[in-house]
Amino acid sequence: MLPPVSLKNFGHYNMRLQWPQDDAFITCLPRRIFNNTQRSMKQFFLSCPKGLESLLEEECRKFLGESLTGLRASDGGIKVDTDIKNFLPYLLSTRLASRGYMQLGQWPINRLQDLYDLSRNFEFESWMDWRQTFKITTLFDLKAKYVLNNSLLASQIFKDGLVDRFRDVTGNRPTVDVKHSQISFLLRIEESRNTSKIAPFMLTFYVDMTGIPLSNRGYRAPGHEAPLRENIAAAMVMWANFGEQAEILVDPFVGTGTILIESAMILAKVPPSFLKLRDWTKGRRPYDMLEHLWFQNNSALNSQLSDWANTQVTMGEKSLLKIPSGILWGSDLDPNAILLAKKNLARLGLDRTVRLSEGNALTMMPPGPPPGVVVTNPPYGERMGTPEESAELFFNLSEHLKNNYKGYRAYLLAGDPKMHKGIHLKTSCKKPVRNGDIECRVLGYNLF
Ligand SMILES: C[S@@+](CC[C@H](N)C(=O)[O-])C[C@H]1O[C@@H](n2cnc3c(N)ncnc32)[C@H](O)[C@@H]1O
Repeated sequence: MLPPVSLKNFGHYNMRLQWPQDDAFITCLPRRIFNNTQRSMKQFFLSCPKGLESLLEEECRKFLGESLTGLRASDGGIKVDTDIKNFLPYLLSTRLASRGYMQLGQWPINRLQDLYDLSRNFEFESWMDWRQTFKITTLFDLKAKYVLNNSLLASQIFKDGLVDRFRDVTGNRPTVDVKHSQISFLLRIEESRNTSKIAPFMLTFYVDMTGIPLSNRGYRAPGHEAPLRENIAAAMVMWANFGEQAEILVDPFVGTGTILIESAMILAKVPPSFLKLRDWTKGRRPYDMLEHLWFQNNSALNSQLSDWANTQVTMGEKSLLKIPSGILWGSDLDPNAILLAKKNLARLGLDRTVRLSEGNALTMMPPGPPPGVVVTNPPYGERMGTPEESAELFFNLSEHLKNNYKGYRAYLLAGDPKMHKGIHLKTSCKKPVRNGDIECRVLGYNLF
C-alpha cells in the first residue's frame, strides 16, 4: 500500500489527501518507483463529440473486454479504468474519440486559489523535464462556470504553482507555449458529487496523451470549406453497419473523401492512426506521449507499443491493398473537391480502389445492384448554401433515393430539423450529434 500524498501547504484543509485509487498514485511517483512497480492500473478520459458517447462506450468494451475494470459514460466522453499497456493500443485504435487523457490526480477544491498549493506540491519533475514547453487548459462544468467564472485565471494559477515548483526543485523554470507545447495538461473543475461535500468542487487533473486530436488522422489536405470531422464520419459508417456484409458504399457529396476513407479503414480493419503509426515507424514522433517521461522511462511499455505499431503498419498496408475496387464510390459537383478527395485517398494508397466521379447527387444512379448503403453529408446551410437551399436539396435527394436506390439503406447527416421535415421516408435511425457548434442528426432510412 503506497502512502498518501502529503500536501504540506494545503491551506485551510490542512489534511492529507488520498488519490482516488491507490494505483493512480504511482503516476505521481519519481521514475525509479514507477519503473519498479508492477501496478499500472490507471484512469483515463476519452473525449468525443456529443452524441457519440454510447457508440464509444460500445467500441471500448469490445476492444478492452475483460481488461476493463471500470467504464462510465460522461457528458462528451467516457471514463475508462484499465491497465495502461492495454489502453495504449486502444487509444490509437479508437475511431470515435477526439482526445485521450490520463488522470494524474483528483482533489476537492473550494476556490481557484487552492490550485496554487495543489500544483506546487505536485511532482511535475517526474512527468516532464523543465526544458519541455507546456500549456494548461481548464474546463468548467456549468456550476463551476457560474461560481468560479474565470477558467483562464484557473490555468494561470495552476501554471504559477507548476513554475514555482520547478524553480524550487531544479533551479529552472519551464516555458508555456500555447500553440506548440510538448506537454498539454487539462484541468476539469466540476461540481463535487461527493455526498459528504468536503468542498463544493472537484478538480481532476489530466495529461493529454497525444497532443494532436485523435480525429486528426493525417490524411486530409487543406482547401475544402466544410470537411466533416473524421470521428463523426466513422460514427456514421458504424451506425450504418457497413463492413458486416459484402456491399457497396456510396457518398454522392464526397467533398474531401472523409466518409470513404473512414469506410475503407473500417473495412480493412486498419486503425485510424495508421498514417501516424507509419510516421512513427519512420522515426517521426507524432504523439506527445512519446516525449513524456512516464513513457520514455518505461522501456517495456515503449517496446511493446512500438512492436504493436510496426505490426499494425505492416498488416494495414497489406489489408488496404486487398479492398476490392467497385465497393467504395464517391462523386461531387465540384471538380476541386474530387481532386482533394483523390489526393487524400492517395495518402493511404486508395486512389485506384475508390471510384470517384464528377456529377450531381440528384441525378447520380447507384453504381451497382443492392445490397448497398449511401452514407453522406450534403451541405446543410451552415457552412455551405442557405437553409432554404438545403431544405430543397434534402427533399429532392430523398425523392431521388426513394425512386432509384431501392434495396439500399441511406445515412444522411442533417442540420436544422426544418431541413429534413419534408423528407417522406420513415427513419430507421435518428442519432443526435454535435458537429462543432452545430446540432445535427444522423438519419437512417431503409429504401424499399
Ligand atoms: C458538406 S460538404 C461534404 C464534406 C465531406 N463529407 C468531407 O468530409 O469533405 C458537401 C459537398 O457537397 C457538394 N455538393 C453540393 N451540392 C451538390 C450536388 N447537388 N451534387 C453533388 N455534390 C454537391 C459540395 O461541392 C461539397 O463538396
